[in-house]
Amino acid sequence: MKQKTLFLCSDCGYESPKWYGKCPSCGAWNTLSEYKAQPETRARSVLPSEGRTRIRPVRMDEIQTSGEIRFGSGIGELDRVLGGGAVRGSFVLVGGEPGIGKSTLLLQMCQEMCRTAKVLYVSGEESLRQIRLRAQRLQVSSQDLYVLAETDMEQILAETDALAPDVLIVDSIQTAYRRELPSAPGGPTQIKECAMLLMQYAKRRGVTIFLVGHVNKEGTLAGPKILEHMVDCVLYFEGEQTGPFRCLRAAKNRYGSTNEIGVFEMSDHGLLEVQNPSAAMLAGHPAGAAGNCIACAMEGTRPLLAEVQALVAKSVFGTPRRTAAGVDYNRMVLLLAILEKRAGLFLAGSDAYVNVVGGMRLDEPAIDLPMVLALVSSFRDKPLPEGVMSFGEVGLTGELRAVSCAAQRISEAYRLGFHTCIMPDQPADGIPPGMHVVRVKTIAQAIAAVL
Ligand code: TYD
Ligand code: MG
Repeated sequence: MKQKTLFLCSDCGYESPKWYGKCPSCGAWNTLSEYKAQPETRARSVLPSEGRTRIRPVRMDEIQTSGEIRFGSGIGELDRVLGGGAVRGSFVLVGGEPGIGKSTLLLQMCQEMCRTAKVLYVSGEESLRQIRLRAQRLQVSSQDLYVLAETDMEQILAETDALAPDVLIVDSIQTAYRRELPSAPGGPTQIKECAMLLMQYAKRRGVTIFLVGHVNKEGTLAGPKILEHMVDCVLYFEGEQTGPFRCLRAAKNRYGSTNEIGVFEMSDHGLLEVQNPSAAMLAGHPAGAAGNCIACAMEGTRPLLAEVQALVAKSVFGTPRRTAAGVDYNRMVLLLAILEKRAGLFLAGSDAYVNVVGGMRLDEPAIDLPMVLALVSSFRDKPLPEGVMSFGEVGLTGELRAVSCAAQRISEAYRLGFHTCIMPDQPADGIPPGMHVVRVKTIAQAIAAVL
C-alpha cells in the first residue's frame, strides 16, 4: 500500500496535502511539517493480536453505566480537576512546559494510587536509578509501583500486557517511538501514531493511561495540541517557573467539569497542595501602595482573591506602551478607553502596565472593576483605603454589570480580613455582618467611593 504524505500543523493539528508557511487554520508560522500517514493495516499490527469479534449497535438505555470505577490519586487538588479521581479506562493527557513539574506530580500520585491499583510508570526520559532517587526524595515508596525505562512503543505495550496494570503512566509522548516509522521521535507522525496506539489500548483493556506531553511557549515542540481530540481529559500544568505556584487546569474533560483548577506549590520535597490559594496569592501584598486593588475571581466553584497591580506613567514616546500579564490585553485597552471617555481621565499620553501577582491568569469579566481601580489609583498616585476589595464587570458606557456568586466572593474576602467591598448594584444573600458593601452603578461612582 502506498504511503500518503500529509503536512500537519504542530499547533492545531490541521492536516493538508500541501505545505504552507502559515497554517491556514490557526495562522501560526512555520508549524507545518511532513507527516507520513500509515496505511491502516500496519498501524493496527502492533496491538497484541485480538480476534475481531462483531460489534453490534445497542439500545442507549441498555448500556450499563453503573459501576464507573475511579482511582483516587490521594492529591485532592488533582482529583478535583479530574472530576473526582481518574476513571478506569480513560486516557488523560498532562501537558506543560518542560521542568514545570509533570513527572513530579505523576510520581507523587503513584504513592496513593498504588493502594487501590497496580501502577506502571514508564519513563523515556530518566533512568531507573534517577526515578528511584526522585521517588526517595518525594518519599514515594510502594511495593506495588512498577517502573520501566523504555521508549519503544511495541516494548511498552508488550510489557504492559504482561504486567496487566490498572494504571499506566507514559512519560513522555515526545520520547516514545514506533520502530517501523521512518521519522524521529517527537515529530508529528510519531506522536500521532503512538498516541493512537495508547488510546486503543486504554479502551480495549480498560487501563487508565496518563500521558505526559511537553509544550513550549513558541509551540515549536509538536505535541499536546495535536492530541487533544484523541484523549478524554487534557490537563495543563502551568505557572511561572521562577515562582513557587503551579496551577493545574482541565482544558477538556469527558468525565467532569473543566472549570476546576488545582493550585500547587513546588517545594524541596515535591509539590504541595495549596489549601488556601487566596491567602497564598495575597502574601506580600504591600499595604498603602498606590496602583493595586484586590480582586475576587471565581475559579470553578472556588472564589480566589488576587492582587491586580497597575502602573500608569507618562509616556516618552508618541505611541504609549501597554502591557498586560495575567489579564486579557484587549480587555485592558478597552477599559483604558472607557476610563478616558466615561470618567474623564486623560490616559492617551500615558504608558499603562497591568499585572496579576502570583503568576495566575484571571480571565473573568469580574476583574474589570479591580483593574479600573488599580489603574486610577496609579494614575492619581493615591492608594486605595486599607481592607478594600472589589469585583464587577464594566460595560462600554461605564456602567457596572452584575456578576455571578457575589455572596461567595464577599464571604471569601471577609474570611481573609477585608471589610469593604465595592461591587455592582446587585442582590447578594448572606453577606457577613462585619462586611461593608458599597454598591455602585458606574465606574465614576466606584472611583468617587474610594479614590
Ligand atoms: P519535573 O517534574 O521533572 O518537570 P517535567 O516533568 O514537567 O519536565 O520537575 C522538575 C523541576 O521541579 C526541576 O526544575 C526541579 C523541581 N523540583 C523541585 O523543586 N523539588 C522537587 O522535589 C522535585 C522532584 C523537583
Ligand atoms: Mg519530566
